[in-house]
Parts: sequence; C-alpha cells; structure tokens
Amino acid sequence: MCGIVGYVGSDNACDFLIGGLRRLEYRGYDSAGVAIYGGSTFHITRSVGRIDALAMQLGAVPPNGTLGLGHTRWATHGPATIENAHPHLGGDGEIVLVHNGVIENFQTLKDELIQKGYHFVSATDSEVIAHLVAESLKNTPETVGQPNLRYLNAVQGAISRLRGTYGLAIAFRDHPNFMIAARFGSPLVLGVGKGEYFVASDASPLVGRTDRIVYLADHQIAVLTPEGFSVLHRDQGKVRVNIRQLETDSSEATREGFEHYMLKEIYEQPESIRNAMRGRLDEENATAVFGGLNLTPQQSRMVERIILTGCGTSWHSGLVGEYLIEDLARIPVSVEYASELRYRNPPIENNTLVFGITQSGETADTLAALRETKRKGHRTLAICNVVGSSIAQAADGGVYLYAGPEIGVASTKAFTSQCCVLAMLGLYFGRLRHLSFERGKQIIEELRQLPNAIQQTLGCNEQVRDVAQKYQNASTVLYLGRQFNFPTALEGALKLKEISYIHAEGYPAAEMKHGPIALVDKETPSVFIIPRGTTYTKVMANMEEVKARGGPVIALANEDDPQVQAVADDVIHVPQVPEFLQPIVNVVPLQLLAYHIALLRGCDVDKPRNLAKSVTVE
Ligand code: AGP
Repeated sequence: MCGIVGYVGSDNACDFLIGGLRRLEYRGYDSAGVAIYGGSTFHITRSVGRIDALAMQLGAVPPNGTLGLGHTRWATHGPATIENAHPHLGGDGEIVLVHNGVIENFQTLKDELIQKGYHFVSATDSEVIAHLVAESLKNTPETVGQPNLRYLNAVQGAISRLRGTYGLAIAFRDHPNFMIAARFGSPLVLGVGKGEYFVASDASPLVGRTDRIVYLADHQIAVLTPEGFSVLHRDQGKVRVNIRQLETDSSEATREGFEHYMLKEIYEQPESIRNAMRGRLDEENATAVFGGLNLTPQQSRMVERIILTGCGTSWHSGLVGEYLIEDLARIPVSVEYASELRYRNPPIENNTLVFGITQSGETADTLAALRETKRKGHRTLAICNVVGSSIAQAADGGVYLYAGPEIGVASTKAFTSQCCVLAMLGLYFGRLRHLSFERGKQIIEELRQLPNAIQQTLGCNEQVRDVAQKYQNASTVLYLGRQFNFPTALEGALKLKEISYIHAEGYPAAEMKHGPIALVDKETPSVFIIPRGTTYTKVMANMEEVKARGGPVIALANEDDPQVQAVADDVIHVPQVPEFLQPIVNVVPLQLLAYHIALLRGCDVDKPRNLAKSVTVE
C-alpha cells in the first residue's frame, strides 16, 4: 500500500511529485524516491523514511524536468533501505518504474531474468517488473511511424506475465515526454490538466492541480504525453473513459490548525455525522432513503440475511451493525473478517445481501471478499467513504459516508459515520417490515440529536488528557463493555494499540471471569463502558470484580452516577443517548484517550509505525 505519482507536462515535475507524495504519505512511509527526466537522463533521488527526508535530499535546487515519477513505500518485500526504495530501474537504466502492490510470482520471474543476465540491486518484487519491461522492450519490434506503440506493446507483454496486484507508472530514458500507467487490483487515478497529465494512487495529490479525474479500472493501461492521453483495456483495446469532476477542496486536506489529522478528524465528527444523514432521513414516511442501494422495496423485503464484512475498524462497525440491524429490522446478520470470508467459503443462502464496509474503498481483503461473493451471484453493496474507489466500483450499489478525507491512519470519523449509516439501514429495512411509523419517527428524532451529543462529549477532552497522564505507562489496558458497547470496547482497544503501541484487549465485560481477569493487577487499568441501559447492573458487577482484585478502573458513565463514582478510580462523563446509538458517542472519549496517551509517549499519532491508511495488499 505504497503511494505512487507521475507527471508529464510543461511544468517542473518535482513540485507535483513532492507535493503529491506528501498527500499520499499516509499510505506508507518506510522510504521514498523520485525520478525526474532532464538532459537525456533520469535524476533519481531516494531516501529512507519520510518525504521530508527526500525533500531535504533534493535540496534547495531539485532537478528540473517536465517528466517524473515518485513513490512512498510501505515495505512488503525487503526492509526499509535505500536499495529497496523506488523508483526502480530496468535493464541498464532505460526503464524507470514505481509500483504499488504485490507480485506473487516475482521469484520465478526474477530467477528467469537472472538467467538472462539481469542484475538486481534490491530485494523487492517491483524491480522484477522493471527488468521484465526491459526484456520485453528488447523483444518488441519498432512500429514505423508509431514510436509510442513499441513501448506500449512492451509494457503489455511484460504485465501479462505478472501474477498479483499492481498500480504502475513507467517512464523510458530513451523515449521522453511519455509515460505509461497500468492497474490491476491496486488503485490508480489520472488527473487531466491543460497540457499536463498526472498519475496518482488516489485523488488527494490532484487537489489544487486539476479537478478533472479518471478512475482507472482493472486491466486498464493509460498512455500519457503532454499532448494528451488514451486508455486501453487488456482485452477490449481502446476504451472511452469517464472524466469526472473532483469534489474536494484543498482545505479538507489540511490540519486546519489542529496539531494532528487524527485530532482534527475526531473534532469533525458532529459534522461528518450530519453529512452521513443529510438527505437520507424521510420524516414523511418515518424511514431512511438511500439513492445508491439499487434495491427496490420488494427486493429489500426479500432479504433474509445480511453479511457485513470488513477489516480493522470497519469490522468493528460491522459488529455494531449486527446489533443495530438485528434490533431494528429483525434480519439475521453475520459479521465476517473479510480476509477470512474470502477463503472460509461459508454456505450463503439466496436472498443474502453482502455489505463491504470500508473507509478507503481500497482494502484488498474486503475487495476480494466482495468479488468472491459477487462471483457466487450474491448482491454486494459497499458502505464506503472514498468516491470512485475500487470497492465502490466493484459493488452492485452502496452508501457513501461523505465524511470527507480521513488522513490520520487511525480511523475515527469513518467509524462513527459507518455506525450511523448502519443505524439508518436498520431503520430502512425495519420500516419495510414490522417497525411502526411512530417508532420510525422516534428513531429519526434520536438520530438528529447525535451531532449535539458528540459535540457535548468532545467537552471531556481535558479530563481525558488528565486520565491519559495517569495511565500513559501502562503495558496492558483492558476495554470492557456489553451489548452495543462490546464493539465499542474493541474499537477503543484498537485505537490504543495502533497509535501508542500499548497492548490492549477489548472484551464483552462478562467474559472477564472466563480468563482475562487473570491479567488484572494494580498496573493494568480496565476501561469500563457503563452508561445507563439494559446491562448497567451487570457491567457494574463486572467492574466490582476487577476492583476487588486491585485493578485500576476508568469508567465511561453518564452524569450524576454516584454508584460508578464510588467504584471507579476515574470517571469520564458521556451524555445519555438511546442504547442503539451509544457506540457513536462512547467511542469519542476512547479515541481521545488513545490520542493523548500516544502523544504523551512521543508516538507519531498520524503515522504510527508499521501501519498504512489503506491496506491494498492481501
Ligand atoms: C483503523 O484505525 C485502521 N486504520 C485499520 O484497521 C482500518 O480500519 C482497516 O485497514 C480497514 O480499512 P478500510 O476501512 O479503509 O477498509
């Protein structure tokens, strides 16, 4: 899940490359590099670590050229070293290439190329593609009067031998002002400018350079020169592509005064929840409406089971969705890890809807699980935040979150927006079954209160920071909740793990007695999610069990709760909301707790180690 960029035009390529890589850095930050064509050769600059290090290396006067490629890496093959940093060269340097994805048959191809005398300088699978293109070019005859065609044929020949996923941008030392981009399985977009063209792993580098975008589909290959571009499909030849309007403004991609994107995105949640609900609550019929589900009411009534699938935080919102849809619509729901669903091959009955939940829309496991269930004839839908993303393209329909760009690697506003959309889907399917008009009206009213409830919850930030101060050196933290708040506990634990590197586990509170309570000692804090509700007394008992064994207790509770006050060491107040909406409010202090602990431990909150924002490899 690297980030790649490319530029061909009349402007200095370096500005777009470095600016674009900064925007894509959340996709991987193990190493970076650019290649800029100038004076009949490519100037290659690579560095380990962040784009800042690369910009430093480029210095005050970077190479000047109107053609270039760039890459920021999330290591899959070979450690984070200069040798393994992209761009990679093919042959004796006539091919320059950047790659996002994983080539599964790279070792076989590499052995074959070594036999043919190619010399490898890196441990990466990507360098294999560069040499493969060089080899293919050697065997591709000139086409008189069509110099571009030879290079196109050579690339097509090379990529036809690849097994795995790729988003590629390729340039040629001996054929300047020309670039080829190709995709299968990894995301790739083109930016259409005036006399200049851009390639990027997603739309963010294009913001402020052009608002005309082409989302490349699988097996498509693009040829770009300053004069224009064309797109071909592996099997269908030349294809007409849809140039879309990019609906993003540059302010969304900035921190707007917040110290970190994660904190900004936590504070954006009242607005992102409003966006998720905008135009979707139908007071007149006391239900929810979705423009992109592509389902008739009859088809929706026929649904007998729903599968929710995703990864990480999106899997957690799926768990919340299970409680919501079963409660509001009485439809059986199962929640599947996408990486397991793909290979577990479960029996799926007819009239089952499969929802892929994803912020980025590019997660390879979720894409593969949707494709597999679709191949078996099931209707697939996406709950997704990125317009035009691969999963949005692959699904039969879906619901966009409209949460705006989420740049912090730790997902926050996407989780609450996913849960909000799942609540509205519960209302939609429920009102097509037994849910009464009155109950529907009430649910709409309760949903409309959410942004204010979240705004109120954000008021606990200072208090959470004090609690974080107290527990910043814990080595293990337990998160505990019941019913709707069990997935909230899992999500709280994941946030702490991924940005502070503290070991954390989430459990249904009652599960503690069956083993995890053995972890409790005075160094191991337990975070209990205990708002008033059907399981309040049960959670209270679980909390006292931990207290009885000397474990520090942090409680998320409603105001004026002397019982909790009496037992817990620290109480963080959350407003009282209906149980089915509690995860959307109660997760906010847990996001802030992880944020402040990570900050106090000097961790890089927005770009935690070993992670990337969208996981485009299996
Ligand atoms: C969550 O904070 C992580 N970034 C990660 O678990 C993420 O939720 C997962 O990779 C799924 O990503 P998606 O929602 O973009 O598909």
